[in-house]
Amino acid sequence: MRASCLQARLTRWRALADWQIATSRPYGELYDRIDDVWGSTPGRLMSGVLGLSMKGHAVDLGCGEGRNTFAMVAQGFTVLAVDCDPVAIQRLDQRRTDLVRSDSVVSMCSKSSVVYGMTHFQIVLAYGLLHCLDDAELDDLLVFCGKQAPGTVFAGSALTSELPIPNGHGTVDLYLRSANSYRQALTRNFDVAYWETGTITESHEPVVGRHTHSSAWFIARVR
Ligand SMILES: C[S@@+](CC[C@H](N)C(=O)[O-])C[C@H]1O[C@@H](n2cnc3c(N)ncnc32)[C@H](O)[C@@H]1O
Repeated sequence: MRASCLQARLTRWRALADWQIATSRPYGELYDRIDDVWGSTPGRLMSGVLGLSMKGHAVDLGCGEGRNTFAMVAQGFTVLAVDCDPVAIQRLDQRRTDLVRSDSVVSMCSKSSVVYGMTHFQIVLAYGLLHCLDDAELDDLLVFCGKQAPGTVFAGSALTSELPIPNGHGTVDLYLRSANSYRQALTRNFDVAYWETGTITESHEPVVGRHTHSSAWFIARVR
């Protein structure tokens, strides 16, 4: 892509970022009470995601504090990082000043739907986001991904309904669905390159101690 074209796109993203505001905080208690909720190790899918895609633009929806954003930047992607939680975005912004060239990440504090008119991504990442979306929002996300160019990588994970969210988890408004329902939705619309289901055990001290979630992870490609 020509440098002038890239600059125009970055300017457009920044203009959008300036007027977007946070609208909800499903993980707000965790961000308010824990300095580093997700750590800096990229999610388990990231090596597979980066191995599949050509360099270019990526969008990290529900980017949190940026662990996956920075993994993509390190591989040469320009990343639009979107999260509806202002504390998460503030941390991502602090971290990137140390880690990366300032023009390789644009952050937005907004719901993920802010990007749904855009069609120029090589990677759409929704890591840990899908269980934060209600059914209509999930449909909108799938439509947005389906409008990207054939071959675009759509990857992410979701907590699933095989295990309940433990009491005192510090989150609100999560929507648990069966792993199978995600698999079916993906198969209808995309080529599924990788699919995994299982459990993760984690702890978010001091909000919630050691607990286990059921989860699904996927890497898909637009047909
Ligand atoms: C489980 S965390 C995952 C964070 C990050 N992707 C990671 O893997 O480290 C889910 C994130 O999605 C954000 N989120 C939830 N609903 C959202 C929405 N509708 N639009 C944008 N971000 C959202 C939350 O604020 C939270 O930061």
